[in-house]
Amino acid sequence: MRLAVFVSGNGSNLQCIIDAIDNKLLNDISIGLVIADRECFAIERAKKSNIKYLMINRKSIDFTTIDSELIKEKISHIVLAGFLSILDKSFCEAWKNKIINLHPSLLPKYGGKGMYGIKVHQAVIDHKEKESGATIHYVIAGVDEGEILLQEKCNVDENETASSLQNKIHVIEKEILIESLKILYAKA
Ligand code: GRF
Repeated sequence: MRLAVFVSGNGSNLQCIIDAIDNKLLNDISIGLVIADRECFAIERAKKSNIKYLMINRKSIDFTTIDSELIKEKISHIVLAGFLSILDKSFCEAWKNKIINLHPSLLPKYGGKGMYGIKVHQAVIDHKEKESGATIHYVIAGVDEGEILLQEKCNVDENETASSLQNKIHVIEKEILIESLKILYAKA
């Protein structure tokens, strides 16, 4: 399985995949390409690990070019790891069941357009939820709507803040990310 990882931010989930490959927690899986839609620290992580990367312009994403880059790099699966741009419908259809996304809530709750980063956790706190978590799902054209592959829950404690919840979920999302890649590999 040869992955492309799409990023927009810190890239801690990209790093988690890199580390799992290096530590042989993931076998026969490699990262062939990192695609970033903006300047971000994730690119530094790709450079440090000698992974080829591509910067795209998020204001005018050319999915035909992305598609041909993916084919050129023999990519079999795509991981959206904190990628903030929305994928085009025909691109999602062409890569059906081959793209997964990581979302920091228990979807279908607190997903959809505009629900990213700290906003997700703030909404969970504002609604006085007792639990939250992370979800890995297949990507379809509707934002955060594809079939769920794995979910992991955590408690929302009494004095929880959006930021403490975010830190908690940053830990659990990495566990299910690696597990999801094993599931995808088994299905490939
Ligand atoms: C993660 O919280 C993930 O759930 C969300 O975006 C964040 C990305 O973090 N989709 P990082 O860039 O991988 O550190």
